[in-house]
Amino acid sequence: MKKLNEILGTEFPIIQGGMANIATGSFAAACSNAGALGLIGVGGMTPEMLREEIRICKSKTDKPFGVNIMLMHPAADEFADIVVEEGVKVVTTGAGNPAKYMDKWKAAGITVIPVVAAPILAKALEKSGADMIIAEGCESGGHVGEMTTMTLVPQTVDTVSIPVIAAGGIADSRQVKAAFALGACGIQVGTCLLASNECPIHDNYKKAVVKAKGTDAIVTGRIGGTPVRVLKNKMTREYIKQEKAGADAMELEKFTLGSLRRAVFDGDTDTGSLMAGQTCGQLKEIRPLRDIFEELMRV
Ligand SMILES: Cc1cc2nc3c(=O)[nH]c(=O)nc-3n(C[C@H](O)[C@H](O)[C@H](O)COP(=O)(O)O)c2cc1C
Repeated sequence: MKKLNEILGTEFPIIQGGMANIATGSFAAACSNAGALGLIGVGGMTPEMLREEIRICKSKTDKPFGVNIMLMHPAADEFADIVVEEGVKVVTTGAGNPAKYMDKWKAAGITVIPVVAAPILAKALEKSGADMIIAEGCESGGHVGEMTTMTLVPQTVDTVSIPVIAAGGIADSRQVKAAFALGACGIQVGTCLLASNECPIHDNYKKAVVKAKGTDAIVTGRIGGTPVRVLKNKMTREYIKQEKAGADAMELEKFTLGSLRRAVFDGDTDTGSLMAGQTCGQLKEIRPLRDIFEELMRV
């Protein structure tokens, strides 16, 4: 089996996960320059912003990079065209099936890698023409499914014949070895990169991630069907209270509206949404990206 770095032409078999409002062109370039595949995340961007961020990324690295497109984004069709026009070579997708873009992306030589939280969806995506699959377990930060990385990765490997990349709950070399043992060809990480010097989030957010224990990364929105893993704070306490009391989606929306931006840009750790996964409990300091990637790959 080929390793992810041999497939993508990167130094390490590591993808920096797309992160809404965080994964800018500069951050993706910094990740690519540090040896991984950097991704620009469209979450929080307009089509014009994506084009600009791709150009910034190209100006800062000559290494491979990609774009993460959330398919439920209202501008998904425009993003799908921009990646072709700008010559992007790798696209990861979330929240759905990118089948309708597949012909156009394949014709442009794009490697398409959807993110899944269930093996059955991986099978459908393989049929649609996906080149690889990212199997993301619910230990991860951000939107989560039900299965853990430990169960999802081997079941996905057994379901498809394309390469599988493990994501969720990986932040040091023990977990990387486990991912390979489960049959993955590489890994995708998000949470451990929040604790990097280069990550463009507010210092308060970084410090909260480093201080948090694994049990502080809880899931909100389970009842309403939009589960998201975030660090416990005033906002999550109130959200869960309202959710249990039967608040409807519109009422709950007011807690989350703009809350990731409040955490990322204003450093509001009380009412901001501090998305982070369970690996926060093993992050001890804020370090350069290169140190984080080297530690992940330590034998
Ligand atoms: C702050 C944050 C924001 C995220 N936003 C997105 C996103 O916009 N799109 C996406 O596909 N995944 C998103 N993710 C998931 C990551 O891309 C990645 O798969 C995940 O972080 C890997 O698990 P880990 O957090 O345990 O390292 C996000 C994760 C974090 C921590």
